[in-house]
Formats: sequence, C-alpha cells, structure tokens
Amino acid sequence: MTMTLKAKQRRRQRRRAIAYVVITAGWAASIWLGATLTPPGWLHAIALFIHLASLVVSLGAVLAVEWYGLLWATEWRSVRDVARIDITMKLPIWTGLVGLLASGALLQPDLASPATFVKLGAVLIASLNGVALTRWTDRLSRFPRKLRFRALPRKARTWYVASAVVSQVAWWTAVIIGMLNSTT
Ligand code: HEM
Repeated sequence: MTMTLKAKQRRRQRRRAIAYVVITAGWAASIWLGATLTPPGWLHAIALFIHLASLVVSLGAVLAVEWYGLLWATEWRSVRDVARIDITMKLPIWTGLVGLLASGALLQPDLASPATFVKLGAVLIASLNGVALTRWTDRLSRFPRKLRFRALPRKARTWYVASAVVSQVAWWTAVIIGMLNSTT
C-alpha cells in the first residue's frame, strides 16, 4: 500500500496526539499511586533498584542520540548516522521511561515538597518534549544522507538545538533532585 506524504504526516500527527495523552495519563497515574501506596521496605528497595536501572537505560539512550546529534552539528557524523541511532534508541528510551514512572510510584514521593514538585514537572517536560521532538527526528531519514547541519534553514537548526537543550535540562533536573531527595 502506498501512502502519500500528506497521509503519512497526518498519521504521525495523530500518533503524537495519542502519545501526549497516554504519557500525561501515565505520569498522573504514577503520582496518584505514589500518593496512595505505602509499600513495605523490601518492595521499596526493589523499586529503587528498578528506578535506577531504568534511569541508566533511558537517559543513557537519550544521551547516545543527542551525542550523535552534536556530532552531526560539528560535522563528525552524517545525518544518516543520527537517523539510525534515533530509531535504534527509541525502545530503550521509552521502556526506561515507563520503568521510571512505574517504580517511582512505589517510592513514596513526598508530594508536599517543592523540590519533588519541580522534579515531577521536569519528568513531564522531558517526556512530552521527547514526543514533540519526533516531529523533527522523523525527518532525519528523509534528508539526503550527506546533508550538513549548517545547510538547514535557521528555523530548523534552532528547533533541533532548542529541543536538545530542553531535553538535557529537564533530565538532569530530575536526576539531581531525585538524588538530593534521597540523600537529605
Ligand atoms: C525522568 C524520570 C525520573 C528520573 C530521571 C528520576 C531520577 C531519580 C534519581 C536519580 C533518584 C535518586 C536515587 C538515589 O540516589 O538513591 C530518584 C529517587 C526517587 N524518585 Fe525518581 N526519577 C524519575 C521519575 C520519578 C517519578 C515519576 C517518581 C514518582 C512518581 C519518582 C519518585 C522518586 C522518589 C520518591 C525517590 C526517592 C527514593 C528513595 O530515596 O527512597 N521519580 N529518582
């Protein structure tokens, strides 16, 4: 079956819209469960392990993609390499994020603390930004394989850089607050 580019774009738009809703619902469910559940100590310990393992998988994969993006922008890698790693890393990124939301629900988040509030906001921003980004990353595989980052229109370059910056800031905010919350 052949699909016109327009039809494909519409389908991708629909998928993104569904992803925004599913992610926001998952995030809200995780917080709601976190406020409700009081798991025993042993389960808390297992959940913390899953939390950190998911963090390694997810943020590790995000870093790989964004590192390749940076290498493309500085002309050490081709746009084709970025497109490939982007597709390859989709599964670990989103699996890890689901793991973070699921395990976070068992860690008894202190929802009265402003730091936790900021952390959960950062988690939502990182996730929604990840979906929004696909509007740009889906295009990578259609670009000529040797297209230089510099050859893109300014607006496109700005979008790529801005979404990578938002992603990194949101992720590290969540990581740092998570760490502070558990050590203080
Ligand atoms: C992008 C998503 C997330 C990241 C990067 C992240 C990161 C972290 C990190 C680095 C820690 C520190 C663990 C330690 O040093 O022992 C932590 C702990 C924690 N996280 Fe998350 N987290 C995320 C999502 C969530 C969510 C959605 C919730 C709750 C609904 C949550 C609740 C907690 C709690 C309560 C702790 C403290 C656990 C304890 O010390 O017993 N996290 N997180």
